[in-house]
Amino acid sequence: MSKKKKAKFQAVRGMRDILPEEQPYWDKVRKVVDKVAFDYNYGRIDTPIVEPVELFERTTGKDSDVVKKEMYKFQTASGKKVSLRPEGTPSVVRAYIENGMRTKPSPVKLYYIGPMFRHDRPQKGRFREFFQFGFEAIGEQDPILDAQIIQTALRVLSSIGISKTALQVNSIGCKECRPNFNKLLVSYLKNRRQSLCMNCKDRLKTNPLRILDCKEEKCTQVIAQAPQSVDHLCPDCKKHFTYLLECLDELKITYNINPHLVRGLDYYTKTVFEIWAKDDEEGRTALGGGGRYDYLVEKLGGKKTPGVGFAIGIDRVVDEMKDLKVKVSKTPSPQVFLAQLGDLAKMKSLSIFQGLEKAGITVAESFGRGNLRVQLKKANQLGVDLVLIMGQRESLDETVIIKDMVGGNQEVITLDKVVADVKKKLAKIKKEARIKK
Ligand code: HAM
Repeated sequence: MSKKKKAKFQAVRGMRDILPEEQPYWDKVRKVVDKVAFDYNYGRIDTPIVEPVELFERTTGKDSDVVKKEMYKFQTASGKKVSLRPEGTPSVVRAYIENGMRTKPSPVKLYYIGPMFRHDRPQKGRFREFFQFGFEAIGEQDPILDAQIIQTALRVLSSIGISKTALQVNSIGCKECRPNFNKLLVSYLKNRRQSLCMNCKDRLKTNPLRILDCKEEKCTQVIAQAPQSVDHLCPDCKKHFTYLLECLDELKITYNINPHLVRGLDYYTKTVFEIWAKDDEEGRTALGGGGRYDYLVEKLGGKKTPGVGFAIGIDRVVDEMKDLKVKVSKTPSPQVFLAQLGDLAKMKSLSIFQGLEKAGITVAESFGRGNLRVQLKKANQLGVDLVLIMGQRESLDETVIIKDMVGGNQEVITLDKVVADVKKKLAKIKKEARIKK
């Protein structure tokens, strides 16, 4: 078997093309996201792909893997340090402050869809350019919002066709209770430092909470007996978490309280959650995740304002849709094929094409081909209902041959009637097809 020759230029490692055949999956996701956002009163926001490096250092966290190891950073011609956004939440909060959205009725509900960039090691479900959609509700402290955010995330997934998921929830406390828990955790882990992986030995100094989330076998044994944040919450966080769980019970949403779920981003307080595919037992490629971020607005220079949100990775969702054989609508075939023979006919075909297109009729053509047989073959492959043929004679007579590909009959019509006749014939073919069914 001959090996396929490598193209001279290839997409950058970890990035890829999403080809027309794939688009029906992506279209379905986008449509569902727009619909659910509308139903739950979220307004669409698009933020720039390039943001100041400092925005993510301050929020996602200087010591988080995302910022420390995975961020695409560069300097602009004027010497500004910028990065390709690794996630959407900091940008949305920046936009909230910059555009004075605080004066709007609370909570301000915003959603986004777009590419994110993380320079991680590419593997299944992990790309360097990937796509997320995210929902953020800014300005409300009540845990009912946390429940509604989870409900929204699950609603999007179930509407896409992914109903069997495993929801993981945890509370990692707030400024009041987390420092105490951190101390306890560090003292537990310090005594077991030798049993931790290299990364976690570092994390012990920079981000001990993150060790709880490590998937290395060495660490999972240590973590199994580690103190758990839910046992060390202050009364306020405890009440918040209990109410959230009651809301989830009320909504009949099943969940797993996962004491090891801490999330890799620094801005979370209280609620954190992830949604795993049913067969992803360790959550190595979570479909989505989110949580509460009550200090984030303040951290970016705004007034103290709580927030909660989530993001879901579309690449992973599309993989899951394929695994689950979710049905997506095929791109419909064009209704009419326009075939031409000779220079004059080719030129006239351009305006016929425009006339049909303006009338809402989908048309395919092969203007680059002169051979009629080849053009008709393409028409057949596309499965069109009608073919319009303009040869040299027709182009001089201002006529066109109209051929019914279903019934097989054909006739000559004048150019001024082409749109009306095509419409009539398409309607007839549709009616006959309905009767046959
Ligand atoms: P995250 O957990 O970092 O959270 O990302 C959310 C989702 O994006 C992941 O669950 C996954 O599906 C997808 N994702 C992340 N990295 C990759 C990758 N390299 N390749 C493919 N998919 C990936 C956030 O980004 C937070 N901003 C979520 C949030 C919103 N929290 C509050 N509001």
